[in-house]
Amino acid sequence: MSENTFLFPATFMWGTSTSSYQIEGGAAEGGRTPSIWDTFCQVPGKVIDGDSGDIACDHFHRFKEDVQLMKQLGFLHYRFSVAWPRIIPAPGVVNEQGLLFYERLLDEIESAGLIPMLTLYHWDLPQWIEDEGGWTKREIVQHFMTYASVIMDRFGERISWWNTINEPYCASILGYGTGEHAPGHQNWKEAFTAAHHTLLCHGIAIKLHKEKGLTGKIGITLNMEHVDAASERPEDVAAAVRRDGFINRWFAEPLFNGKYPEDMVEWYGADLNGLDFVEPGDMELIQQPGDFLGINYYARSVIRATTDASLLQVEQVRIEEPVTDMGWEIHPESFYKLLTRIEKDFTKGIPILITENGAAMKDELMNGKIEDTERQHYIEEHLKACHRFIEEGGQLKGYFVWSFLDNFEWAWGYSKRFGIIHVNYETQERTPKQSALWFKQVMANNGL
Ligand code: NOJ
Repeated sequence: MSENTFLFPATFMWGTSTSSYQIEGGAAEGGRTPSIWDTFCQVPGKVIDGDSGDIACDHFHRFKEDVQLMKQLGFLHYRFSVAWPRIIPAPGVVNEQGLLFYERLLDEIESAGLIPMLTLYHWDLPQWIEDEGGWTKREIVQHFMTYASVIMDRFGERISWWNTINEPYCASILGYGTGEHAPGHQNWKEAFTAAHHTLLCHGIAIKLHKEKGLTGKIGITLNMEHVDAASERPEDVAAAVRRDGFINRWFAEPLFNGKYPEDMVEWYGADLNGLDFVEPGDMELIQQPGDFLGINYYARSVIRATTDASLLQVEQVRIEEPVTDMGWEIHPESFYKLLTRIEKDFTKGIPILITENGAAMKDELMNGKIEDTERQHYIEEHLKACHRFIEEGGQLKGYFVWSFLDNFEWAWGYSKRFGIIHVNYETQERTPKQSALWFKQVMANNGL
């Protein structure tokens, strides 16, 4: 093999990812009721330009065309999420129309020869559950059980890959702690309580999956970051350890080792009130990593200590490296380091799937073409990092590019484009970018 060839294992899973609220639209159709994101988008100042997912990519009406496009590009795997408020729009109600939408989507996916990965929760919590306290209340576990059960009973035989919760960190910490995401609360106790409940729901989904005798693989997806200290000063080194504890270990430790990281429990102290949200049996339920760990990876962070009154007393340092349109540093070497470390400390041979990786860039549609060389380069370099990890024996089984389409990028609205397919939001026209055509070749060649 030449030095410039990066071939992947024959069974490598090449895929692409989306999520319901970010692409579907049809917000008031098919019996769907509002999610916390519909509500959040109405609050002035929360989402850039007052954007919302009301229409998004209109995938609710265009899913056939979208799946055909996936097929044409040669994708084999497609990760999508189910909108909980389409399925359980009100207490005690199961919405057949909502189930039918996903049934038709699955029909299309299967007839195109694609293998679906179904994510149960990608942030669109029914507003009626939030009205009862949402992720901060333990009752959510019961609600989630009902919802997951309905989905598993209906689609259990058709789904070979299940994703329980997408990025519990964002759903809890950004939703209830920093307030950047729906429902926009700013209360650390609420945030960590919510985080615990997202992990519990993951455990519940694994248990249900087992009890129902389903044969598909099941796992959670964590957003993970490689963290470097800005200097060798002990304060900065300790600050980097805290950032890692906050974003990575707080979620990975319970899943793989059955406990919250002690250094962080001590650091948060009174903010957590002695982890009073943990009940007997919870940690056993949570400590079920499942069949794989999904990792969403975008960037590293370089951290230094601060002396302010913030929870973590850390800050991100801007390094003179290229960044994406999100301002996130492009540093593929850190991806390799992260994978190596996660396998050593946590997964220890359990397969890893990259359920998201990709980049927002300023794309320009010129003469019907989008030459997104920077995105292509980002993906290429990150794939090389994956390849290096695999070559050294790393158990990485697949890579799903984020995202298939330009879409609603949460608090950034439509101002950031992550797609390998360009979406004209006025006409809903889809145009594959250069990166999509290049990725098609990568998949066809099973490598670079
Ligand atoms: C991870 C999230 O799962 C996805 O919804 C989001 O669009 C990407 N990160 C990019 O920020």
